[in-house]
Amino acid sequence: KAKQRETLLEINRQAAQYFYYQLRRESGQIGYRYLTDRGLSDETIRKFGLGYSDKFSDDLYKFLKGKGYGDDQLRDSGLFNVDERHGMYDKFWNRVIFPIMDVNNRVIGFGGRVMGDGKPKYLNSPETKIFDKSRNLYGLNVARTSRKPYLILCEGYMDVISMHQSGFTNAVASLGTSLTSGHASLLKRYTQEVLLLYDSDEAGVKAALRAIPILREAGINSRVVDLKPHKDPDEFIKTEGAEAFQQRLDQARDSFMFRVSVSEKEFPMEEPQGQNRFFERCARLLLELSDELERNLYIEAIVRQYHRYGISVEDLRKRVNTLA
Ligand code: GTP
Ligand code: MN
Ligand code: MN
Ligand code: MN
Ligand code: MN
Repeated sequence: KAKQRETLLEINRQAAQYFYYQLRRESGQIGYRYLTDRGLSDETIRKFGLGYSDKFSDDLYKFLKGKGYGDDQLRDSGLFNVDERHGMYDKFWNRVIFPIMDVNNRVIGFGGRVMGDGKPKYLNSPETKIFDKSRNLYGLNVARTSRKPYLILCEGYMDVISMHQSGFTNAVASLGTSLTSGHASLLKRYTQEVLLLYDSDEAGVKAALRAIPILREAGINSRVVDLKPHKDPDEFIKTEGAEAFQQRLDQARDSFMFRVSVSEKEFPMEEPQGQNRFFERCARLLLELSDELERNLYIEAIVRQYHRYGISVEDLRKRVNTLA
């Protein structure tokens, strides 16, 4: 069993070297160009071990067979597809490759991106005996040593790499899945606080709303960073630069107040009816806070932020108590 895991790790290591080498060949120039056009330096490409998979073939399969691995082992690696017509062939082709490392720098899987608008945009290794997507975070092998007081949690490979290249070496991403309690307990080993930098679209806001309680249950304090008008950390840094990015990090919002402000947008706030329903929602959110001091502090914060609606601390506290 342990032997089997070791073999899969070896296969992944060999595959990562293979992809890395492909990126450096003449035929890999299109992949290299794609990465540098997106602003990545050669140093960054090396640091993250980025690679390339060329046209549809079974070249990686033959390469690994040549190293002595058997079909069963190769099938378990998740690097190949099998069908009757082609037999076993490479899963990744015509993509730039992102090797995924665990916290001990072992290659446990891969992500591959098309160089353009093809679908699917990203293809990822399936879960295998060594690749559990809900217990690993991309970039954590580097971020764990960053010695910053918080970790940055974002959506994508390119976001992580872009932030690291600009000096934000405390960035990690969940691997195309939503945040799980497994991720949260992994994070908890390295930090007390997480800044959420999900994409600024609706999906990103929803993902942040889901992540907040999961982090909280693991004992991690979270704050939310607004990247608007940019779509994600990668695009923000590319257009605004590292200094402006740092300013946004410094302005990260308290996650409770983030939930409140998302709620505000759900109601027709120009009408008393909408205002009333919004404060009802606030009262429900406040009810989740079991610590009395904490609840009082948030009651005051909400009243301060929404004083234009004429609500008082007493009004809101009464509303909370009628629900309790
Ligand atoms: P770029 O377009 O390269 O900047 O990628 P992105 O990270 O901004 O893409 P997006 O915000 O759409 O997705 C965030 C993350 O979700 C990606 O980094 C992937 O891990 C994952 N993802 C995106 N698209 C797909 C897909 O088509 N299939 C799978 N399996 N995962 C995806
Ligand atoms: Mn997508
Ligand atoms: Mn997205
Ligand atoms: Mn992006
Ligand atoms: Mn994105």
